[in-house]
Amino acid sequence: MSEYAQIIVDGKTYELPIIRGTENELAIDISKLRSQSGIITLDPGFKNTGSTKSAITFLDGEIGILNYRGYPIEQLADHSTFTEVSYLLIYGELPTAVELAAFQNATTQHTLVHEDFKTILDGFPSTSHPMGVLSSLVTALNAFYPKSTNLDKSPEAINLSIIRLLAKMPTFAAWSYKKKMGQPVNYPNNNLDYCSNFLHMMFALPTMSYDINPVVTKALDKLLILHADHEQNCSASTVRIVGSSQASLYASISAGINALWGPLHGGANQAVIDMLESIKADGGNIQKWMDKAKDKNDPFRLMGFGHRVYKNFDPRAKIIKKAADEVLTALGVQDPILDIAKGLEEKALADPYFVERKLYPNVDFYSGIIYRALGIPTEMFTVMFALGRLPGWIAQWQEMRGNQEPIGRPRQIYTGKTKRVYFPCSQR
Ligand code: SDX
Repeated sequence: MSEYAQIIVDGKTYELPIIRGTENELAIDISKLRSQSGIITLDPGFKNTGSTKSAITFLDGEIGILNYRGYPIEQLADHSTFTEVSYLLIYGELPTAVELAAFQNATTQHTLVHEDFKTILDGFPSTSHPMGVLSSLVTALNAFYPKSTNLDKSPEAINLSIIRLLAKMPTFAAWSYKKKMGQPVNYPNNNLDYCSNFLHMMFALPTMSYDINPVVTKALDKLLILHADHEQNCSASTVRIVGSSQASLYASISAGINALWGPLHGGANQAVIDMLESIKADGGNIQKWMDKAKDKNDPFRLMGFGHRVYKNFDPRAKIIKKAADEVLTALGVQDPILDIAKGLEEKALADPYFVERKLYPNVDFYSGIIYRALGIPTEMFTVMFALGRLPGWIAQWQEMRGNQEPIGRPRQIYTGKTKRVYFPCSQR
């Protein structure tokens, strides 16, 4: 295998090094191309462009592989916990029992937030989307912990910021729900595990306590593991590029939350349910909606289908589909839109339009059906995605800062007006 690629422009040859990752992925390093040739590359949406070298997550979209720090997602989903996977992603190794206990204790001790956050929450109208509330509360952490904006690069200071964010995110997420519902917020209960505490803060009421159901907490923990990281997706890339300007961890994560909100990204799980509900309301006419998705003149897309990287089944979708059946059965929930989802998947996987474009169900296609069964409202689905993705974003931000990567600043090809002379308004 050659160590160099050659680009020939106007008879001149430029040699560019080829680099190989630990999973044998190959890239042409173009970092010196412009200085050698004055030429840049162009790749809208970065569909073929690597932004970094990373040791956090490996995925192979052709065969549907997803590993966190080398561990297959299937093994972690079956045997690990979200807290343990968070540790793995952020610190690079699975914790020992002592390390896990210390991490659990640290992230539990910081779940309470300053009372003034309730004043911030009160400033939002009840119509606010929980994702907007969540990103605002995370940004506000900079105000309560001003030292976090100019991390003095000490590992201890950075780690304390990480622990604070991991611990307070469930509190913020639950409070964004309570805002929506017009209900009083619940304070964290440090005697409960991560998922039990989150569900308690979400659903406990002054008039009735929330009974923890192990089926629900186990399903939620699995969903959070499956969402924990996904290499250089839109929101992780946002976190890295915002952090590359040396913006704080909280500012960078808040930017990631806002990138995830979009319906083409994490907002798809909410859009899938809206779509399935529309199909149900429309009499379950699946073919009609499939035809809409294939019609180039119709902006409608089959939400929860297709993926920038996976050109095979999204391994997370397989696990979530199986979990959806198990959870609904265990909870005795009958949800007609699960049958519509399965019917849609079956039809799409046999339809040439989807087969030719290698469009398969992605992580968002079935996740909303489980969230619904767990009693989580649709507008909170993307917040659940953000809760799961937080350790991945943190790991990506920390890796970028640890690698001392330069500030992200892509180039462009200008296609506007060439130089022209200014005339005052009276002469135009
Ligand atoms: C997530 O990147 C990540 O890792 C993201 C994520 C993570 O964990 O962080 O996995 C989470 O964001 C999952 C994706 C959630 N989004 C959706 O489910 C929205 C619906 N999907 C599409 O919008 C689309 O598939 C994207 C955005 C996910 C990917 O789009 P690409 O890679 O830019 O591909 P494309 O739009 O160029 O599509 C290629 C072709 C086009 O047709 P042609 O121009 O070739 O004729 O496939 C078609 C598209 O029109 N197509 C679809 C489709 N997705 C792609 N047609 C109908 N329905 C769809 N869902």
